[in-house]
Amino acid sequence: MTERSLSSVLPNPSQSSTNKASQVQDMFNRIAGTYDTLNDWISMGFHKQWKHAACRKLQLKPGMKALDVCTGTGDLIGYLLPLVGAGGTVDGLDFSENMLSHARQRYQNQPNVTLTQGDALALPYPDDYFDAAIISFGLRNVTDIPQALREMRRVIKPGGWMVNLDTSPTPLLPGMNFYFSKIMPLIGGALAKDSQAYQYLSESTQHFLTPAQLKEAFEAVGCAQVSSETLMLGSVSLQAGQKSLR
Ligand SMILES: C[S@@+](CC[C@H](N)C(=O)[O-])C[C@H]1O[C@@H](n2cnc3c(N)ncnc32)[C@H](O)[C@@H]1O
Repeated sequence: MTERSLSSVLPNPSQSSTNKASQVQDMFNRIAGTYDTLNDWISMGFHKQWKHAACRKLQLKPGMKALDVCTGTGDLIGYLLPLVGAGGTVDGLDFSENMLSHARQRYQNQPNVTLTQGDALALPYPDDYFDAAIISFGLRNVTDIPQALREMRRVIKPGGWMVNLDTSPTPLLPGMNFYFSKIMPLIGGALAKDSQAYQYLSESTQHFLTPAQLKEAFEAVGCAQVSSETLMLGSVSLQAGQKSLR
């Protein structure tokens, strides 16, 4: 595929426009059917540990209300439900209808899960509504990172926690970059028949904020007690911050 035709199907990770948003949306609509299987393969199953660690940072208790921004197929909801229990609720939001349809199927018998198609940059929830909010492998795809973080902070209650889990452009092992840029698109090509999408996922990681910059971004939107750590030899990072009590 030539560079020109490639750029017509792939979002440019560094562009910040509604064009990028619709290309990201189209891409996730295309890969929705194989997304979960590919996650298992690409992360060698480790994404489950990272997701557990990220959800624990939310400090959820039974009966609480949690929000999963960019929920995709709703995988993270499965980690949040045991934390909030039968008396709590989990809301998942995503702008890809095809990703959401997998989540809908998955949680069709779960009365305390609500799935909404919407934009992470303009969350359709009132201020101070949730006890905690999380975004997992989503922030790297949005066109305005500070706005996504501001929205998460707006919809959680004072004292609530917000968490980001995502790939990091600063892995400690040099071979990780090779894995992300060369091996991951091959796996994506073989299993999802969409190597371009997995090429984008690799490139969007390289253009993404470092863990230190993400910590600053959390602080800049008004989070307190911000922590940042890396997992998997620096290839994944995790930030948590608290909305200050008024
Ligand atoms: C890599 S998937 C992550 C899915 C899930 N959170 C997980 O950890 O497996 C990224 C998701 O972000 C969604 N997304 C990207 N930008 C968005 C936006 N502005 N508003 C809502 N969803 C968005 C995509 O549709 C996609 O489902």
